[in-house]
Amino acid sequence: MIQIRFIRADGTEQTIQTPPGQSLMKAAVDADVKGIDADCGGSLTCATCHVMIDAPWAGQLSPAIPDECDMLDFAASPVEPGSRLSCQIQLTPALDGLVVRLPASQY
Ligand code: FES
Repeated sequence: MIQIRFIRADGTEQTIQTPPGQSLMKAAVDADVKGIDADCGGSLTCATCHVMIDAPWAGQLSPAIPDECDMLDFAASPVEPGSRLSCQIQLTPALDGLVVRLPASQY
């Protein structure tokens, strides 16, 4: 199991324990993390799984593919340097302790 800490725009936090080998979006939805809607279920067509991953964690993620970058243009909240779509982030044991910031809104 790995630990992931979610920080909402209002400052409230939620920490979950989840197995690696799945997407960050799936782990968040399964743990009922409020603030990740994931309307398309991970097919990269909605941008409602927008999250922000800051340094040093951002450097440990696989780079965003062009389709992810294109879909981020449709995110409801402003895109930041650490913005990613959580359905495109695969959780590995190396991401134990990951800190994820959530945008103010996904719509
Ligand atoms: Fe729809 Fe990630 S869940 S783009």
